Amino acid sequence: MKQEDLNSLLNDLSLTEKVGQLIQLSGEFFQSKDISFGPIQKLGIPDKLVDLSGSIMNVTGAAETQKLQKQQMAKQPHHIPVLFMADVIYGFKTIFPVPIGLGATWNPKLIKQAFMVAANEAAVSGNQVCFAPMVDVTHDPRWGRTLESPGEDPYLNSCFAKAIVEGLQEQLSSKKGQAACVKHYAAYGAVESGREYNLADMSISNLFQNYLPPYRAAVESGCKMVMASLNTLNGVPATANKWLLTDILKKQWGFNGVIISDYASVYELIKHGFAADNEDAAYKALNAGIDIDMKSPVYANGLQELVENGKLSINKIDDACMRILQLKNDMGLFENPFFGASKKEEAKYNLNPANRKLAREVADEAIVLLKNEQHVLPLSSTEKVALIGPYSNEKSLIGMWAVHGDPNDCITIRSALSTALGNNLSYAQGTDITRDKKMLAGLGFLDSAQIDQIVSDDEIEKQHHQAAIAVAKKADIVVLAVGENTFESGEAGSKTNLHLPQNQINLIKDIHNLGKKIVLVIISGRPLVLTDIVQDVDAIVESWFPGTEGGNAIADVLLGKVSPSGKLSMTFPITEGQEPLYYSQLSTGRPQKGSQHTGRFVSRYIDAPNEPLFPFGYGLGYADIQYRDVQLEHSSISKSDSLHLSVELVNDSPWEQKETVQVYFHDNVASIVQPVKRLVAFKKVTLPTQANKKVTFSIPATDFGFFDNHGQKILEEGSFQIFVGSNVNDVITKTFRIV
Ligand code: BGC
Repeated sequence: MKQEDLNSLLNDLSLTEKVGQLIQLSGEFFQSKDISFGPIQKLGIPDKLVDLSGSIMNVTGAAETQKLQKQQMAKQPHHIPVLFMADVIYGFKTIFPVPIGLGATWNPKLIKQAFMVAANEAAVSGNQVCFAPMVDVTHDPRWGRTLESPGEDPYLNSCFAKAIVEGLQEQLSSKKGQAACVKHYAAYGAVESGREYNLADMSISNLFQNYLPPYRAAVESGCKMVMASLNTLNGVPATANKWLLTDILKKQWGFNGVIISDYASVYELIKHGFAADNEDAAYKALNAGIDIDMKSPVYANGLQELVENGKLSINKIDDACMRILQLKNDMGLFENPFFGASKKEEAKYNLNPANRKLAREVADEAIVLLKNEQHVLPLSSTEKVALIGPYSNEKSLIGMWAVHGDPNDCITIRSALSTALGNNLSYAQGTDITRDKKMLAGLGFLDSAQIDQIVSDDEIEKQHHQAAIAVAKKADIVVLAVGENTFESGEAGSKTNLHLPQNQINLIKDIHNLGKKIVLVIISGRPLVLTDIVQDVDAIVESWFPGTEGGNAIADVLLGKVSPSGKLSMTFPITEGQEPLYYSQLSTGRPQKGSQHTGRFVSRYIDAPNEPLFPFGYGLGYADIQYRDVQLEHSSISKSDSLHLSVELVNDSPWEQKETVQVYFHDNVASIVQPVKRLVAFKKVTLPTQANKKVTFSIPATDFGFFDNHGQKILEEGSFQIFVGSNVNDVITKTFRIV
């Protein structure tokens, strides 16, 4: 539609139609009168506005979306198509590893390809906007949504934000892409104590330096939408935060797309005690910059009166409505309201072998080898392997937020290993994933019959344990597949205990006591506390929730079809009491090493080390890559120069190895105290067997700057340290000056 036609469409709309465009409801409102009755009553949205609502969330399927689109367009006086939006956070039908695993690939190029596939799958199934990328920086694995984030580092998350937006939107014009909606703006990952929906409070410098960059990277990559977060930031809910949504996002960063609230968060302004009632909440959210009210009754019940009573200018509504119409028009919906929906393509494209192949490749790279004592891995084909543990034969490998995926499409570890090992593989379940009925009941959506399906009765549990011990005794090596229950991470999965469940720990200890070599395969959505079992096992393979091809990828690593190359994008603590534990902490006046004070009076715990169990950037391969000869081209650079540096990598092993070279720095003296180390660049390279490789970097001096407490980026002259290595701790140090 031409711009002038779009303008006259807006002029023709009644106020109610305009308000309708600003409302997003979920599928149950539209699919059948019976189902919709409850929620409509509960939300109290007038039928008229249900009919006029401008977008629908989490309804997918080519046939279903086409049917709904026809139905809704017929109800709208101006036949405006609805936008279909859905959570496609790490895959649609072909599920990739959860984002904390995607982060561990350190391979944004590969992740871009993954999101091109995810977008195409969602598009043929009728979806148009993805609620992704989720790029909240988080320092605290107690927060369940750690699963959804690429990790703890703003630079790494920014690289992924760019890759994901590009991947989703690249094929938008051919209707094989999706409009991206970056979330959750802003600083949702900083919720206090890692508790879901909690507050975030921080200095402006910290916000600009550590939390805003990934959202900004998404916006600069052309992201069409932004979702506001559920938390307050320095006391103001993000949903009604004019400073965040208008001053920074729109005015400073130039974002002119659509801003959507998160689920019910406009209504929650009342719960926060930030708004008195629907009208007040509607006024505050719209005025701050929220265009679409997701799944709350507030815009539906508040906006019209506000305009009619002269409390809100119609221009504000027009402005928001126009942005939504503009997005629909940019996506060609007025010409083709079904977008990429095609039953034929859906059947052919989704989960096709090429998509699965890519999911396997991504999962291969997401796996992090944390320990490999005496090179116990890879397994040799002549060894008798016992595969034990509740995740051995489990299809639930996709994690909580793959809402459109199906665990039944997953390859289990058992099926992947048995293809390769045949009679050399034996199996026993050993124990349940969790036996914590109280925790499962506390989730609030499982009834007792469902809980009994998850937790076996005591007699069966005993039999599982005995069978596992018998199977282990006959084996040369035991692969123990353990981990978190799907519901333990993801949204509203905050936890204070990050250990493996006690029943799994008991199993590990009992098998260890048999004197068997143990390879521990972990399925989790967050860093766990592995301190109490790390000494009992010979190898640890952190696999996250690895996705549809998870079993094959784990087998690839265990059998040495690929050498693992994943590196942690989040620190693994020794104990939960250290949290939030992250590598880029600010220098303290009393560091544990190098303080003038001794003994008690330094920054430390008296009952635990400061150090993590496994640091940021850490991960082993089957080849041990040596770093040497770090060279800086110049020992001092000007503010407009770049720092050129090189490092030589040596692979003297028989393995081809992918290695992520990481570059960190420290600003020795600054007007705001700076982190002990900060990631500034990285490169993932492939080293053939018995080969050396020179890896070079060119880092603009401005990248060594920081944000002050007015949100301004500054670059100060002075001396800096630069660290090059395979993780944040194993580094070669050099110094340079900015003059
Ligand atoms: C989550 C969002 C999600 C939305 C829609 C909310 O509960 O916080 O991440 O996009 O639901 O499903």
